[in-house]
Amino acid sequence: FNTIMYAQKAADISTISEKTLNSILEKNRTYSTQGKVADYIPELGKMDGKAIAFSVVEKNGRVVNVGDVHKKFTMQSISKIIALMIAVNEKGESGVFDKMGYFGTDKPFNHFSNLETTGKPLNPMMNAGAILTTSLISGEGEKPFLKILEMVRYITKDQTIDYSKSVYESEKSTGHRNRGMFYLMKNNGLISGNEDQLDNYFKQCSIELTAEDLAKIGYFFANQCVRFDGDAKYKNEEVAKLVESQMLIAGMYEFSGEYARTVGLPSKSGVGGGITVSVPGRMGIGVFSPALDQHGNSSAGYHMILDLVKQYGLSLF
Ligand code: DON
Repeated sequence: FNTIMYAQKAADISTISEKTLNSILEKNRTYSTQGKVADYIPELGKMDGKAIAFSVVEKNGRVVNVGDVHKKFTMQSISKIIALMIAVNEKGESGVFDKMGYFGTDKPFNHFSNLETTGKPLNPMMNAGAILTTSLISGEGEKPFLKILEMVRYITKDQTIDYSKSVYESEKSTGHRNRGMFYLMKNNGLISGNEDQLDNYFKQCSIELTAEDLAKIGYFFANQCVRFDGDAKYKNEEVAKLVESQMLIAGMYEFSGEYARTVGLPSKSGVGGGITVSVPGRMGIGVFSPALDQHGNSSAGYHMILDLVKQYGLSLF
């Protein structure tokens, strides 16, 4: 009986309308008052906790946006999936995963005690692995960062996207824990460069975009690295599968297992309040609401995704 009810409730994906997204957004707006805006990076603490936006990009590239659609925020950890794609394109999968694991985690994003045990980061989604991944992208100085920025501009088809200098400065001046990981990995022989490489990580976290841009990134990985308008310059099924698998097992950090149970889709969060979601072969979802839950994931964002997934039967499982 439940199965029949569920099948009837799962509406046709091509009917996702502004009205539907709006009603989900309004239903979950209240969660933005229950979480807390990240303030461990002082510049992030200045964000408007009440801002909220919800976007989807469907199979045909059609974009639907509701809420504070023009509001920009920093992508933070969501940049890690772009860096992973570039590093793997350059070095091959083994060139990256020789140096880190494919492991899931029960630990927060800035956990790094395994650098003392196995000597290697757990995965490329947590900070240690992400800092290492960015250091593997070729080029002197800020060149690796510029490759990440160019890739974000390509995927979103928006050449105006840039990074926030003030957030970057704030990250750099307070990121001592990340600096500690950087030097531990240098000590372990995983990183050979200088602190420019860590700066590239701080800069990639400071790239500013909208919820719509996140939906386009989600779409890209959901569709074998083909852009929302059909451009297939970077088409690569294996890289998309690799990135999506990491999003699924560690994209929401220690919440990833419970998230896989409730949402059941590859997703990546950032402490700026964004979450990007890939519905494999189908669509991308982008949400923004800066108040975070205890795991560092957007609180209203999670609940908006959950409602959309339930309404349209989008879970993989
Ligand atoms: O490394 C940091 O502290 C941040 N710039 C990025 C962390 C982040 O977004 C973690 N994810 N939720």
